[in-house]
Amino acid sequence: MNRVARLMVADLLSIRYISYTDSSCLFDSMAQFRIIGQQPIGGTITVEGAKNHALKIIAASLLSPEEIVISRVPDIGDVRLLLDILQAMGARVSYDAAQEVARIDTSNVKSGEMPAELVRGIRASAVLMGPLLARFGEVTIAHPGGCLLGRRPIDIFLDGFRALGVTVKEEADATRCTAARLKGARIFMPQVSVTATETLMMAATLADGATVLENVACEPEIPALAAYLNRHGAKIRGAGTPTIRIDGVRKLGAGKCVVIPDRIETGTFAILAAATHSAVRIEQCEPAHLGALWALFDRMEVPYTHGKDWVAVQARGKKPFQAVNMKTHEYPGFATDLQAPMVVLLSQCHGLSLVHETIFEGRLFYVDKLNRMGANITLCDPHRALVQGPTELHGKNLESPDIRAGMAMVIAGLIAEGETRIENIQQIERGYANVVERLQSLGAIIERV
Ligand code: EPZ
Repeated sequence: MNRVARLMVADLLSIRYISYTDSSCLFDSMAQFRIIGQQPIGGTITVEGAKNHALKIIAASLLSPEEIVISRVPDIGDVRLLLDILQAMGARVSYDAAQEVARIDTSNVKSGEMPAELVRGIRASAVLMGPLLARFGEVTIAHPGGCLLGRRPIDIFLDGFRALGVTVKEEADATRCTAARLKGARIFMPQVSVTATETLMMAATLADGATVLENVACEPEIPALAAYLNRHGAKIRGAGTPTIRIDGVRKLGAGKCVVIPDRIETGTFAILAAATHSAVRIEQCEPAHLGALWALFDRMEVPYTHGKDWVAVQARGKKPFQAVNMKTHEYPGFATDLQAPMVVLLSQCHGLSLVHETIFEGRLFYVDKLNRMGANITLCDPHRALVQGPTELHGKNLESPDIRAGMAMVIAGLIAEGETRIENIQQIERGYANVVERLQSLGAIIERV
């Protein structure tokens, strides 16, 4: 049944069909952000559920035929696209954006065939491979898309699947994986990969026998995913450490899950408060997930306090902070997703900062846009940049290259003298829900035009 027919059937059955393509009219490609900089900013902002946890819990819905109910699901493009992919594969999906609750029943999903045109839009679709192989023994995927941060291959995924007994056929425009049964294995990851860790952990939950994953990622979203799966029958130990042990089981149940706070949103807003020299309180967050950021703030002499689920940055006043050398690193090191916002803050600090981006080879190219605004950043090589500050920034017309660099440009626009316009904002709205309204509530002059 093709997609249009499925839409009609969904309507007839009064299933509220969520469609990224329908809602992409909200993210139409002509829309821009218009920002007037140097406005007084202050107040309280609430953090959404973590994009990079929500997407993996949505993928985990494929591991069980029972219904999963996920709360605190942020209303962002990537979530709607992944729900759209599941719906196109036959799952019954509903998403209440006001309540931020998604319900998914994958009992009708019959095969691992994924809609190529949708898969290309999002890197997280690669995470679906593990659950589909575990449930159906087959998956065919067009090369996943997402932010252009360098090559972003899936070779570590495929080598892991081969170790679990999967036959992998790489064709011109797709990769076809099949396995009668997944067999537990010991896998040493050649490189730490967040989504490869998650997809192999999920695949191993239904494999025959024990699997040991070594040199895995330790990001907080991974133990959160493991905890949900363990509540519904999985046997996973060590998630959040470099070695995870999984004893395969015959089947998994499903139930309720609450998405953890988004640590990247929290860090982004804390950096925004420091860069705009404002007093901002960030609530419903998990400061314990951002130790590397607070360590940098201490060295930069950025004033802040925090409790268990809130952080308050008290940066009112014009004193530039101290420049500092920073390096992105796998968790618990400084998150690569905070690198771009931090570079904007460093452009306002006294002195020379060396920025070392160790995770992606294409994640510093946005700095030329900040230089056009007046920043003084030298790109030494694809992994290192020197930032001289403080510099005055002036509003410009820019284009967002990816979620996090796009948000860095929003912060630069809030600091800059005059008007800044940012195009390609769906690259920002993919990762930050209601960002205009939330920044307006802090006093920013920002609108979607
Ligand atoms: C996840 O991407 C996040 N995305 C990224 O957030 C985040 O920047 C990244 O982890 C690092 O923390 C999601 O969780 C959906 P990796 P992921 O695999 O898993 C290489 C955002 O803005 N690699 O940990 O794709 C890869 O090229 C996004 O929210 C291979 O070589 O990142 C990179 O250099 C951006 N082969 C390094 O590993 C593979 O098979 C780490 O990437 C897989 C990865």
